[in-house]
Amino acid sequence: MSQRFSTDILVIGGGAAGLAAALQLAEHARVTVLCKGDITSASSHWAQGGIAAVTDPEDTFADHVRDTLDAGAGLCDEGIVDMVVQNAPAVIARLASWGVAFDQEDNAYHLTREGGHSQRRVLHVADATGRALTETMTERVLDHPNIELINDRLAIDLINLSKLGRYPSRCAGAYVLNRTTGHVEVFQARFVVLATGGASKVYLYTSNPDSSTGDGIAMAWRAGCRIANMEFNQFHPTCLYHPLAGSFLISEAVRGEGGILRLPDGQRFMHKFDERGELAPRDIVARAIDHEMKRLGTDCLYLDISHKPAEFVRTHFPNIASRCYEFGIDVTEAPIPVVPAAHYTCGGVLVDRHGRTDLPNLYAIGEVSCTGLHGANRLASNSLLECLVFAQNAALKIAAQLDRPFDLPNLPHWDESKVTDSDESVVIAHNWDELRRFMWDYVGIVRTNKRLQRAQHRIDLLKQEINEYYANYRITNDLIELRNLVHVAELIVRSATKRHESRGLHFTLDYPDIVDPPQDTIMFPGSIDHLDMLRPSA
Ligand code: FAD
Ligand code: SIN
Repeated sequence: MSQRFSTDILVIGGGAAGLAAALQLAEHARVTVLCKGDITSASSHWAQGGIAAVTDPEDTFADHVRDTLDAGAGLCDEGIVDMVVQNAPAVIARLASWGVAFDQEDNAYHLTREGGHSQRRVLHVADATGRALTETMTERVLDHPNIELINDRLAIDLINLSKLGRYPSRCAGAYVLNRTTGHVEVFQARFVVLATGGASKVYLYTSNPDSSTGDGIAMAWRAGCRIANMEFNQFHPTCLYHPLAGSFLISEAVRGEGGILRLPDGQRFMHKFDERGELAPRDIVARAIDHEMKRLGTDCLYLDISHKPAEFVRTHFPNIASRCYEFGIDVTEAPIPVVPAAHYTCGGVLVDRHGRTDLPNLYAIGEVSCTGLHGANRLASNSLLECLVFAQNAALKIAAQLDRPFDLPNLPHWDESKVTDSDESVVIAHNWDELRRFMWDYVGIVRTNKRLQRAQHRIDLLKQEINEYYANYRITNDLIELRNLVHVAELIVRSATKRHESRGLHFTLDYPDIVDPPQDTIMFPGSIDHLDMLRPSA
């Protein structure tokens, strides 16, 4: 029998979005936060450049809105952009009140610059802003008597009452794998907040931690929610290229502070692609690097900040300088080898301005969601901002409903009676590799119809294999994540196939032009055929 737990609000995910929501909700109710790993499993923890907000008297909301809309290439929701930008200064004030010590200079915040921003507008804590945010918020969460933070719990599926034949339809909790014991537990809640981050792990090369397997997007889709804009995957232009470095980002702030992109022979090239040079929006820089690498047949290009005074470089980028040094690169003396890598999922679970999804009592905030802020491409440092603004909006909306009478249904246990242990885990490892490689090769920075068809064909085969596996064997962490990655890959490929133009992050050689007016948002209705995949006992 699976263990049952009950709480007022279940927050799934302990990154910037989940932690901020928990802190605000805990003023009103009992909150349980589940994370599949520890604090480092969140992309938020690794965020470098910072958080965008208008705090300089020379800057304006109108400029921040315009830069966001320009990056979004015609697909942003202007009302949402305006709301987020206007809320940014309050979000910064809240973070500062919680104890985040943003860098200052001359009694004002030090502001750095990143691609696509017409002004210096990015607040930061050196080049490790995410660590400062998550550590500060986690400390507060752990101190709060109304919050329980539980690591090593992997949500498997959301519980939509109507899929269990009970009405009216609403989200009543989740089935969760305890990664320590291997048992499935039932968490029931009045409200569920999904804050599980993005899906960049679907690609072979990514700046993200291992946890970014799109679980929230796949779970919400299986629970019946619409998923939108999945063709827009952001590739960060500059990740460290070194065989032992894994996924380590070289912040766009390096270019913001004067870093120059160079070919292997030392030549600059970005001005050939965009008059903004190194500070063009990310899609343009990533495509330019991809183009030059393919043209020259090289494994990487170079980002050079060595012309700046060594003291300046070490003070602004201590984290990057020391990480590169571990690999024998002194960034004050030599250029950094870089390659693009999957970085951010612009699409996700479709929500309104309060983070409400299609399923009553289910909210989605942060990278898992599609709010309308980013459109076809996200402006640098707008993501942490989105996490915090939507955490606040969702918390207010949920808090306003807490005094309504509520009955918690008795949810069925998880049924493991018909499955056995697998003795072929190698199949799962192999499928993981295969999926991530063909997504990189066929659905990456430059796409074609043929490549998308090839990817879809392989997804169909993988789905069959995984469904069979899921139905017959005891579930494991890797199987759950693989199943989610395949569902997300399918949503990406189908969305990309439907967009017959090149816009923002979606670039295809078969339709190289932008169409006017833009094609509508591409979205998929929630799946209705995954009842068999939920395995509660009858
Ligand atoms: P995350 O921070 O990714 O947190 C997700 C949480 O969900 C984790 O706790 C994870 O354990 C948990 N989780 C996932 N699946 C499950 C599951 N099935 N069950 C239980 N728990 C689960 N953005 C900016 O605005 N500024 C920056 O400077 C910046 N720099 C970045 C640098 C790097 C290297 C990366 C990778 C991203 C960066 N971004 C930046 C993007 C930004 O950090 C993320 O978009 C944002 O932090 C996402 O926050 P989140 O709370 O939505 O998700
Ligand atoms: C970076 O520091 O380059 C990442 C910023 C972001 O993803 O917004």
